[in-house]
Amino acid sequence: MISLIAAVNKNCVIGKNNKLIWHIPEDLKRFKKITLGKTIIMGRKTFESLPKILPDRKHIVITKNKNYLISDNSVTIVHNIKDILKYKNYPEEVFIIGGEKIYSQMLPCCSRLYLTEIMSFEDGDAHFPEFNREDYTMLEYEKHYDKNIEYNFLTFEKKFQ
Ligand SMILES: NC(=O)c1ccc[n+]([C@@H]2O[C@H](COP(=O)([O-])OP(=O)(O)OC[C@H]3O[C@@H](n4cnc5c(N)ncnc54)[C@H](OP(=O)(O)O)[C@@H]3O)[C@@H](O)[C@H]2O)c1
Repeated sequence: MISLIAAVNKNCVIGKNNKLIWHIPEDLKRFKKITLGKTIIMGRKTFESLPKILPDRKHIVITKNKNYLISDNSVTIVHNIKDILKYKNYPEEVFIIGGEKIYSQMLPCCSRLYLTEIMSFEDGDAHFPEFNREDYTMLEYEKHYDKNIEYNFLTFEKKFQ
């Protein structure tokens, strides 16, 4: 089963200059809780934006570059989106963690979306794709307000797989 996890603002912005825009400790905690022990799948640019390889998670990084090598047992490099699509039929849940290029290619194949909806309008250069909320059942809607940032944790499940 393929799921997706993302933090998105009201302009559908997810990042700027290959970085996240917000630092929301509760969101990072939620990301860790949801993905710990699981496989996380990301584009090469998102991988390079991480401060470090994330502990206790298997990383799959997609790039067209056949010479791209990461010598770490927890990182696998793939070159074709088909290598990700095969996880759709796996019983375990794997997570698409970004960025824009990967979200836009994979959103239609994701059964669940774990979103942090940030209620602000910063500009950026990376966006989350449009999707129709009516195609999903909302499993979670939790409102938060911390340090002047208002955000919601949402989980959606696709109605028709
Ligand atoms: N808010 C959030 O939740 C969140 C989460 C993650 C990332 N982000 C943000 O998103 C931004 C990065 O997004 P992005 O779209 O620029 O980059 P990205 O999706 O992370 O990575 C794009 C790269 O992935 C590879 N790729 C994509 N599709 C491929 C395919 N079909 N086959 C083979 N390789 C493929 C290519 O690598 P090569 O160029 O090496 O071929 C491409 O340049 C950053 O600002 C980051 O902070 C936000």
